[in-house]
Amino acid sequence: MISQRSVERILDAARIEEVVGDFVNLRKRGANLLGLCPFHTEKTPSFTVSPAKNLFKCFGCGRGGDAIKFLREHEGFSYPETLKFLAAKYQIEIEETEEQRKDDPEEMLKDQLFVVNQYARDYFSKQLFDSEEGRGLGLSYFKERGFRESILKKFDLGFAPTSGSGLTVQAVHDGFRAEILQQAGLCTTGNRDFFRERVMFTIHGLSGKPVAFAGRILGKTAKGPKYINSPETPIYHKSNVLYGLYFARQAIRKEDNCYLVEGYTDVLSLVQSGIENVVASSGTALTPEQIRLIKRFTPNMTILFDGDAAGLNAAMRGLDLVLEQDMNVRVVVLPDGHDPDSYLSALGPEQFLHFLETERKDFILFKTSQLLAQSKNDPVARTKVIKEVVQSIARVPDPIKRGEYTKICAQVLQVEEPLLIAEINKVVATDIQKDRRDKERVERQDATSQNSSGPPLPIQDRKKSVHPPQELDIVRILLTGGHKIIQVGEEQLPVAQYILNELDREVIQEFKSPLLQTIMLECLDLIERQLPVTSDHFLKHEEEEIQHLAIQFHSPDYHYSENWEDRYHIVLHTQRMPEDNFARDAQMALQRFQLHKLDQLCEMNAQRIKEAYEAADEQQYLHYLKFQQELQTLRNAVADQDLNTVILK
Ligand code: GTP
Ligand code: MN
Repeated sequence: MISQRSVERILDAARIEEVVGDFVNLRKRGANLLGLCPFHTEKTPSFTVSPAKNLFKCFGCGRGGDAIKFLREHEGFSYPETLKFLAAKYQIEIEETEEQRKDDPEEMLKDQLFVVNQYARDYFSKQLFDSEEGRGLGLSYFKERGFRESILKKFDLGFAPTSGSGLTVQAVHDGFRAEILQQAGLCTTGNRDFFRERVMFTIHGLSGKPVAFAGRILGKTAKGPKYINSPETPIYHKSNVLYGLYFARQAIRKEDNCYLVEGYTDVLSLVQSGIENVVASSGTALTPEQIRLIKRFTPNMTILFDGDAAGLNAAMRGLDLVLEQDMNVRVVVLPDGHDPDSYLSALGPEQFLHFLETERKDFILFKTSQLLAQSKNDPVARTKVIKEVVQSIARVPDPIKRGEYTKICAQVLQVEEPLLIAEINKVVATDIQKDRRDKERVERQDATSQNSSGPPLPIQDRKKSVHPPQELDIVRILLTGGHKIIQVGEEQLPVAQYILNELDREVIQEFKSPLLQTIMLECLDLIERQLPVTSDHFLKHEEEEIQHLAIQFHSPDYHYSENWEDRYHIVLHTQRMPEDNFARDAQMALQRFQLHKLDQLCEMNAQRIKEAYEAADEQQYLHYLKFQQELQTLRNAVADQDLNTVILK
């Protein structure tokens, strides 16, 4: 334990602008400093540091706090790690209170494991560079593969000798207990070295300490598994470690992208060629913990798939997990028979990087076209493809991104967009039901087990659906300017009231997006109770998803869609400065909404006309035809509406 006195000295010394300044480029803006938020992607800075308050705050994503909070979230440090980091930065000596340390056997064990791993790391390294066998077998192997000494040293590579118990004997001689060596997985219960005659890879934790090892067999002919690994220990949980992340962090943040490869040697190869933002999953499927690790540094990842297409479909299915975490995923497939290491050697660094940058494709689009190509023209297979794609899109939490994917994939798959939306919402509905069941189960468990130990099961919040743009548009206006007063004819009234006067409750109940519908009904309720519809109400909303949406609408880089006009055939005169032109914006949103509804009605009616025609039912046919004309007239009237009848007061 760090003594209370040391903690206080560290906290006194830590200046928010200096701590944040190590990671974020800050510019002075009045009394504060401003920069691009490291926790979310943005183009215009909304990340503010206040030296006076000694706090940071991002007005885009809402994150804020003191220097400790910043380091914990940004670097993934534990509290003691944060204190140690700051102590080093400000050159404060840490006093430890030894008695308290003894109180926590768990922490003691972890410390011992770190120490013994450090010892082993140094031993393996010394063997590689200084022993005759190490140089002859290990170093020459690495050199043959083209790895330079600097990279071997940087990544703490080593060699485990052939002899049965070199490490164990030496470590025990230097005072380590055999049990701790066994717990670390370095020696067997028979006190023989666990790793023998292998080249060694040190696996580092986020703060650079050795948490585990992997040993690769020499050459290709030898018997036994290609790699053997340390077991799970209190300091090594395979599912939340990524090989190379410790060394890649800064580069990942700088490049705002993380390359993901499979093998240890792929990482070494890329880093040696100057591509430093790379980590390895170590041959297993990505876990949510690993994705969260990457997400601390960037929301963007590019996955490099080996050339053998065999496992590709299975691997792609696993990636829906990544989408769920709101990551932007791109993929690159290497040519047949190549892995990143071999292809990099074949092309050379420059061309390889060029290859990555030109060949990477958005994951969902890649998956869609890949599956489509496999299904050829088989209609049954095509239905399956649609199902798979729907599964992926439904996992994207950001409603705006989800809408864009829906649009594009509808085109690629050549299905009607509303059909795709309906399919996606079905998945979403199932998810919601599942969440509800989970929640109820947890509640039941809580109720029955009175002194239940441990936290309740995590409930995944996946209440999401595709928001039709016209609905999203109306909600945006309500949530950003619902309280603004406008003049409609003779009357003065708030925007919210104007909009809800125009939309009946039945229309709201037809909203396709459950979330937006909830918001609309809440607005209606506020108005009926004569309460104002303010942004604040939604920015502080207790439903996290509603709050999140409100924050998104307010974020400076919220844009509807780069080419909304092309995509939705909607003309947007007021998009650029809606705040200056609120009345018009509101009126246009309503107009777009009504046009959309009328278009849908026209489409439905057209189908009826077709059916009546095919059934040779003349009476029905003429009836629907007449209705269609009426709809068209109405539609044209709405489209021609004079948009200047409503003005901002
Ligand atoms: P090289 O063949 O030396 O280039 O190694 P590599 O790291 O490229 O290995 P490969 O592409 O065969 O496998 C990718 C990753 O899967 C490895 O880095 C390991 O993390 C893991 N892996 C492969 N084989 C084994 C094995 O036999 N046991 C275990 N535990 N992991 C393995
Ligand atoms: Mn390889």
